[in-house]
Amino acid sequence: MIRINSDFSFIRSYEARGCSLNVERGLDLKILSGIQPSGSLHLGNYLAMMKPMISYMNRSELYVFIVNYHAMTSVSDGKKLAEGTLDVASDFLALGLDPEKCFFWVQSDVPEVTELTWILTCITPMGLLERCHSYKDKIAKGISPNHGLFAYPVLMAADILLYQANIVPVGKDQKQHIEVTRDIAIKFNSMYGDTFVVPEGEINDDVATVPGVDGQKMSKSYDNTIEIFLDEKALKKKVMSIKTDSTPVDEPKDPENCNLFQIYRHFAPNDRVQEVNRLYLEGGAAYGTLKKELVGILWDYFKDSRETKTRLMQDPGYIKTVLARGAEKARAIAASTLKDVRSKVGLNY
Ligand code: ADP
Ligand code: TRP
Repeated sequence: MIRINSDFSFIRSYEARGCSLNVERGLDLKILSGIQPSGSLHLGNYLAMMKPMISYMNRSELYVFIVNYHAMTSVSDGKKLAEGTLDVASDFLALGLDPEKCFFWVQSDVPEVTELTWILTCITPMGLLERCHSYKDKIAKGISPNHGLFAYPVLMAADILLYQANIVPVGKDQKQHIEVTRDIAIKFNSMYGDTFVVPEGEINDDVATVPGVDGQKMSKSYDNTIEIFLDEKALKKKVMSIKTDSTPVDEPKDPENCNLFQIYRHFAPNDRVQEVNRLYLEGGAAYGTLKKELVGILWDYFKDSRETKTRLMQDPGYIKTVLARGAEKARAIAASTLKDVRSKVGLNY
């Protein structure tokens, strides 16, 4: 049983809906989230998923994993996928995830997830998947869809349900996938009896959609990212390329609609954010100066993690050992859920 701070927004949202979580009593919640090793991780990934997950470490039962099966829907270069997996693992460790205090593993090291995916696939209506925005958006962008892309939300549901997670912290783009997971869990439970926890998504409005340098959602797929770990020259280039408008320095500007401010405000000290916010509203905010300042802020913000990451990347054996131990722990839980599911659906004869 772990005590959870009452500043967690998911607790407020549970309470708002009249649910019976009692913060004073202490909570026994499982928090789970995954990330694709489909490219270098960026500030949007950090703010919406990695930072909150790492902050939950001492306060709940935490499950963090690298979803390499999901990444296969877009990465077909095996070497790139393998290297990307170790890269993401080292990012998490460098940013402070302590593998002794959580479950930290690679999705494909727990093959039970693929069996559960098939079982769930057989109760998932086609219409549910056909309505998924992320699938429809990719088709609209001209990506020729493979079956993996279509079935992606069922694999994600299996990821979540296999570990009986209560809370899934993600960015806004994953909201619909969590709803699909809930629909699948509710349907399974009504067909076969109470089996799965019906999870809640945890989306923090403040970082729901972090903009990229072009103002669209920052995403590995849009070539608009600022990666967490860049060398100083590359970081400078990325930050200086953040798109801003041509309002003169002295004129008032809207901080809410400025990509630069929407990144800046997450990393600068609070009092400086207030000051810059005032400059936007009253006039005096100079984009070029703020961009240079942001380069320095980001460089310092990730300094210690950057050094740890460099060390870790020189020791892939250590990362692999950590992941293998994590998979072993996660697999014990996955096997127990799957045993129950197999028996309920009639695979034990
Ligand atoms: P990408 O879109 O760059 O491929 P992923 O799909 O791997 O990122 O996302 C990993 C996690 O980071 C998810 O929880 C996702 O919602 C979150 N995320 C990704 N980009 C952003 C963003 N720009 N703003 C907020 N959250 C984001
Ligand atoms: N679909 C998520 C993304 O692209 C990654 C993901 C896979 C995930 N399985 C998950 C997130 C389970 C949370 C829980 O970001």
